[in-house]
Amino acid sequence: MKIQIFDDHTDLAFDVADMLCRQIARKPDSVICFAAGTTPLSAYNIFTTLVETDAVDCRHITLIGLDEWVGIPPENTGSCAWFLRRTLIKPLNLSADRFRLFDGMSVDLDSECALMDEYVSGCGGIDLMVVGIGMNGHIGFNEPGGSPVLRSHVTPLNDVTSTVGQKYFTEKTELTKGITLGLGHLQDAANVILMASGENKARIMRETLEGEISIDVPASIVRKHRNSHVLMDQAAASLLSRRD
Ligand code: F6R
Repeated sequence: MKIQIFDDHTDLAFDVADMLCRQIARKPDSVICFAAGTTPLSAYNIFTTLVETDAVDCRHITLIGLDEWVGIPPENTGSCAWFLRRTLIKPLNLSADRFRLFDGMSVDLDSECALMDEYVSGCGGIDLMVVGIGMNGHIGFNEPGGSPVLRSHVTPLNDVTSTVGQKYFTEKTELTKGITLGLGHLQDAANVILMASGENKARIMRETLEGEISIDVPASIVRKHRNSHVLMDQAAASLLSRRD
């Protein structure tokens, strides 16, 4: 695991955008799994701008959406699908055969999970996962106390996730379940970037990096990954005992 601390959120976002460009230059048909959320938004915006200005060829990449709220349609501006379409799929002009997102409205969520797992295997696995961290240490919707080996699955949401998740929606929304890639996918991915930004992530980053590696803090599993990169701004790193 490599840890990097940046002065601020903007520096962090530029670095992640640059890493994405380098990944695609190295492997033009990269399979990249992207989280939604507040943390990666600037990085994605910088990335899509760089793609345009530096003519990065994204025609052969495959995009995988990390997770989705169950029961929330893709037209809802709080859905992960809406976020990924607006910030990446549309600006990168990805055709329908170049991405897969979970359908949180599916009447058969088990099949939805099986289809995602088949899709990931059919692509030859994930080259890079770009993930954030929840206030409770979740990655995707892999909530504390879940399983470190699961692949795609549906999970009840922890109270913290349902409460904090309201920030994505324009009106109060019932959030009870999520559908998500699993930590099994994370462990198998060739590379992982975990981003954390802001003072409100400082406590969980300390637990993630300095506490026990435990499913009670799902993000701590990145410490076991052979090629994980944890990028934080100073605020998110502020409670670490060592910051040099
Ligand atoms: C979203 C996702 C979540 C978020 C996490 C942090 O697709 O997978 O696990 O990464 O909840 O969210 P933000 O970045 O909004 O603080």
